Amino acid sequence: MFDFITEEHRMIQQAARDFARKEIAPIAAHHDETGEFPIDTIRKMGELGFMGIEVPEEYGGVGMDTIAYVLALIEISKVDASHGTIMSVNNSLFANGIIKYGSEHLKQTYLVPVVTGEAIGAYSLTEPMSGSDAGNMKTRAVLNDAGTHYVINGVKSWVTSAPYADYIVLFAMTDPEKKHRGVSAFLIETDEPGFSRGKTEPKLGIRASATSEIHFDNYECPVENRLGEEGQGFKIAMSVLDAGRIGIASQALGIAEAAMEASIAYSKEREAFGKKIGQFQMIQQKLADMKTRVEASRLLIYQAALAKMASRETGARYTMESSMAKLFASETAMWVTTQAVQIHGGMGYSKELPLERYFRDAKITEIYEGTSEIQRMVIARGLTGLH
Ligand code: CAA
Repeated sequence: MFDFITEEHRMIQQAARDFARKEIAPIAAHHDETGEFPIDTIRKMGELGFMGIEVPEEYGGVGMDTIAYVLALIEISKVDASHGTIMSVNNSLFANGIIKYGSEHLKQTYLVPVVTGEAIGAYSLTEPMSGSDAGNMKTRAVLNDAGTHYVINGVKSWVTSAPYADYIVLFAMTDPEKKHRGVSAFLIETDEPGFSRGKTEPKLGIRASATSEIHFDNYECPVENRLGEEGQGFKIAMSVLDAGRIGIASQALGIAEAAMEASIAYSKEREAFGKKIGQFQMIQQKLADMKTRVEASRLLIYQAALAKMASRETGARYTMESSMAKLFASETAMWVTTQAVQIHGGMGYSKELPLERYFRDAKITEIYEGTSEIQRMVIARGLTGLH
């Protein structure tokens, strides 16, 4: 049916499925419980190529396309959304921006270690007082008199993987008077003076994916570590998020599929009033709606992935396709996991099964990389052209 999915795509999908079942499934509950960052499996995923699926082979990646990326990410997230988040940030938010806007120096220096799993990447846009209104950031980057370094000061928040990140794609104001047109992008090394981390956030879900504030106190960033031109940062941030949102949609679909499959199995086993619960129409309705929403999400993700692939040739934006996929798949994940807990009753609420983890993990997909409200705004603006 989907003739754009090749034998090679199926192979990476199967490899991700096998890895997730063998290596991630046995540790997922423990890492959720303790909040420990799963560094060993993340490194292995890098060695197997899962951290740079679309990165060209010359920079250590697998050199495949967005369909390969989404197929692999769905499989990893189906077993553990925390691993899915870390994979998504390394692939889409970190590597994608460097491939698209980075100089040869940045590509050579920073892509290889992250893509091969030796290092962890992150992306930092949000600040304590600017989340959805991303252009309203306060972190400043001032070029020194010699023109060799930017001196960066400020605080960024909710940075996925920051507690373990070696390198971060950072957005900061170089010219505040120009508002969003005064934002620039930088590649930051976290072991340099002037960089520090705040406390790791205690979170409802994706608890094994570490998140923290980051602080810049006269941090000196070499000029050659700027991504793109001065003032181009906001557009870089937005276009990288167009790619990132396809990743979050895939993560959401993985979570939804896991909850749906558990619900189908339980409906065929569990009995009440002398029947399998799957024989009751109220359960049937939930299962039918789960499957329909899951498959609709998949189609929107494929549409966005194909639009992203086409944009390499045409340069056309795929903002709406990406927002629609993220919006629908994340709301599907929240709805499906809610219904799955309900179908499982008390067992759905128990930590003995992973259902309550799926339910907690699903929520973030409606929030990060742009809330559902922001996705609706982006889609409506795309339709009307009105601001
Ligand atoms: N691609 C390229 N350029 C884009 C673009 C895109 N997708 N979207 C907007 N632009 C350009 C516009 O064309 C415009 O250009 P000009 O200056 O030439 O006119 C400029 O950017 C400003 O655009 P808007 O007027 O639309 O900007 P806005 O201030 O009204 O807001 C927004 C836009 C959509 C609300 C945006 O701020 C947004 O997406 N907010 C949500 C931020 C977000 O997703 N944050 C998540 C951070 S990452 C994360 O979650 C953590 C993690 O680690 C996983």
